[in-house]
Amino acid sequence: MAVLLAVSAASAQNSRPLTGLTSNPAYEKNCAKCHGKNAGGHRFGGPSLISIKVASASDQDLRNVITNGKGHMPKYEGKLTPEEIDALIQEIRSLNTK
Ligand code: HEC
Repeated sequence: MAVLLAVSAASAQNSRPLTGLTSNPAYEKNCAKCHGKNAGGHRFGGPSLISIKVASASDQDLRNVITNGKGHMPKYEGKLTPEEIDALIQEIRSLNTK
């Protein structure tokens, strides 16, 4: 029984619920093609949005990347409203809090 509980606790940690970021239409429309439907990284060099790097970035850092772009990451200034960008930041955050 203890083993079963441990296994299900471990898999609950690995498979994040598909709520928040990954069910945000702004994410699905703009970001999922590179960062993946489940934000675990995907194609065109988009890194996972669930990482130590993201977890240790400040809200300002994340806002800066999304607003101004970085490397192959396009900029979303003028494409998303500041409110939409703030919502994405909060949702990225909550994917990175255990
Ligand atoms: C064309 C592909 C592409 C799209 C579309 C895209 N990204 Fe990115 N994103 C990248 C790449 C590539 C990087 C890595 C940039 C670097 O560090 O040089 C990145 C980095 C990031 C980072 C920083 C992660 C880190 O590890 O430093 C965040 C946060 C992020 N993207 C969020 C988003 C959000 C939110 C959207 C949608 C509004 C989005 N991205 C759309 C490709 C993309």
